[in-house]
Amino acid sequence: MTQDSFICFIFWKMLTSVMQSVNHAFGDAHDMTVFLDEPLLVSDIENAPDLVVSKGDIFFSDLSFWYTDAQTPTAVFEHFDLHIPAGERVGIVGISGSGKTTLTRLLLRLVDIQEGNIYVDGQEISKVSQVSLRRQIAYVPQEPLLFHRTISENISYGRPGASFEEIRQAAVDANALDFIEQLPDGFETITGERGVKLSGGQRQRVAIARAILTDAPILVLDEATSALDSESEQLIQEALQNLMKGRTAIVIALRLSTVASLDRIVVLKDGRIIEDGAHADLLAKGGEYAGLWRRQTNRA
Ligand SMILES: Nc1ncnc2c1ncn2[C@@H]1O[C@H](COP(=O)(O)OP(=O)(O)O)[C@@H](O)[C@H]1O
Ligand SMILES: [Mg+2]
Repeated sequence: MTQDSFICFIFWKMLTSVMQSVNHAFGDAHDMTVFLDEPLLVSDIENAPDLVVSKGDIFFSDLSFWYTDAQTPTAVFEHFDLHIPAGERVGIVGISGSGKTTLTRLLLRLVDIQEGNIYVDGQEISKVSQVSLRRQIAYVPQEPLLFHRTISENISYGRPGASFEEIRQAAVDANALDFIEQLPDGFETITGERGVKLSGGQRQRVAIARAILTDAPILVLDEATSALDSESEQLIQEALQNLMKGRTAIVIALRLSTVASLDRIVVLKDGRIIEDGAHADLLAKGGEYAGLWRRQTNRA
């Protein structure tokens, strides 16, 4: 090798190594944006303090919201009020498009409201740091995305220091152990867009395991079990019941049997609360919820 070609070789080596780290950095950044994509729409105020949750009281106060990206922006919520006392487990039901998912996205501040306020333990969520807000809310979205990481890392995302035993137990409680153990590398299998593709129901179970491990004072489940067969749902229900103990929980569900045992059920329609009460009260009332319940239980 001549000196020139040696220098060329060294240079090439350095270049590829720089390229690799750039790639790596961008790859990682991209993984994070899977979660942080939408949050870029909102920004923290300067020196935003952390949210401090001691009880988990949630208050949607006189809020109005419309999607600004919609072709014809119409309000999803207008002067909407909902108070969820600390520790209450609330089911939210209503036909598709009534605003259930939007309500949870507003609480997580994935989008900003135009008018009114949302308070958690008396602190306005738009005035605290987004990171601290999301750390206090374990969220299982309607269609969970997984990071381009191992299953283990995906489960322990909300509690990075968790031991393997804790991760495994969360997977057991989420009824996810069987399918994880059948993956090529078990808990070390890489998932996400460039990794092993999981079904909707499997992703939901990983997201539930993550929520179980996160141990946050507030829990938000958006149709968290809708992609599961009723047998898997039955198995997970028990874990979710345990998880909800001592926490404020918002549970959106299509199957009313999922919310029937909760403290309170809120029925949404066109962004308005049309019924609000415990299962037995709503049945006795003979309104919208009672009708839905009758239709669903007859079908079963
Ligand atoms: N990203 C979005 N951009 C514009 N409109 C949206 C968006 N997401 C939902 N909507 C609209 O907001 C309303 C409430 O939707 P959503 O909160 O998803 O209801 P649900 O979860 O009860 O089915 C619907 O009219 C829906 O079309
Ligand atoms: Mg929804």
